[in-house]
Amino acid sequence: MPATESSRQQAYESPPRSSSLARRMGRRLSTFFRPKLHHKRMSRREATYWKEALRALYLSAYGLTMHPLESDASIVPPKTVIEVVQGRGKDDPTTFFASGYRETLRYHTLLRAHGFDVTRMRRMLDLGVGTGRVLVHFLPFAIERHGCDVAPEAYAWTSRTLGAYATLHQTSLRPELPFADDFFDLIIATSVFTHMPYAAQPAWIRELRRVLAPGGCVLATVQDFAKLPCEARERGWHETGAERGIHMRTFLSESKVVEVWGASFGTMDVRAYPRGQAFLLAVNDGNGHLAG
Ligand SMILES: C[S@@+](CC[C@H](N)C(=O)[O-])C[C@H]1O[C@@H](n2cnc3c(N)ncnc32)[C@H](O)[C@@H]1O
Repeated sequence: MPATESSRQQAYESPPRSSSLARRMGRRLSTFFRPKLHHKRMSRREATYWKEALRALYLSAYGLTMHPLESDASIVPPKTVIEVVQGRGKDDPTTFFASGYRETLRYHTLLRAHGFDVTRMRRMLDLGVGTGRVLVHFLPFAIERHGCDVAPEAYAWTSRTLGAYATLHQTSLRPELPFADDFFDLIIATSVFTHMPYAAQPAWIRELRRVLAPGGCVLATVQDFAKLPCEARERGWHETGAERGIHMRTFLSESKVVEVWGASFGTMDVRAYPRGQAFLLAVNDGNGHLAG
């Protein structure tokens, strides 16, 4: 990889720190007083940083420009919808856009590292599309977009905001998906396996492989490996908040992720980011130990 490319990718890891002492002190104080619920809120500065990085990537890598909806306030879900779909404390418009730009950049980092080019792909699926926070950033591409979700609120909101640009489906908590074998070239699943019971994951991973064309790939996020409690390290997985339904959390060790996904997929790349979800790319290359 050329030096310029690798330094650009490094820049995607996190925005540079502010040099102003006053601003740093201000942030410390606001972090101290901020309710814990909002600890994942992102600043306007971060939103601008990730947006400009994504804009630069579209242009340099694909010769594309941003779609107007990628920063249009009309696609930000109301609190009532976001609380059902993503949970409490996630209803901040700045974070909605900032995290969407950042997640999309991380996906492109993985795609490009493995030679995938979205401009050459025919169809994609956003599994657990939610409110379209990440799907909206695929609007610059001439790819046929599909999104599915089990939550009627997600289906209704995203049909309203992105229905003209994507085909939305309301699906069920258990496989199978309403698509033919080998239908998609790309599947993304952002913050879905992070909240899916461990026991349900193998069947969903097999289903993704069924609907993914040979040579296609899945991009998914998994929980921060550092958050797997010590007592669960040997077993490799742990769940919390089962009573919270789709907002429960499932933690896997990195080797457990490779084991579970590796049953269906061959090439795999897992990238952990500090204090955040890890991102994985899995390729349907006919390998996986359950291949066939
Ligand atoms: C935390 S939200 C993330 C939404 C969106 N992907 C994003 O990143 O903004 C998880 C979403 O996955 C959906 N979901 C969970 N399990 C699913 C499944 N098996 N099939 C489809 N959707 C699912 C939930 O209803 C919810 O909308």
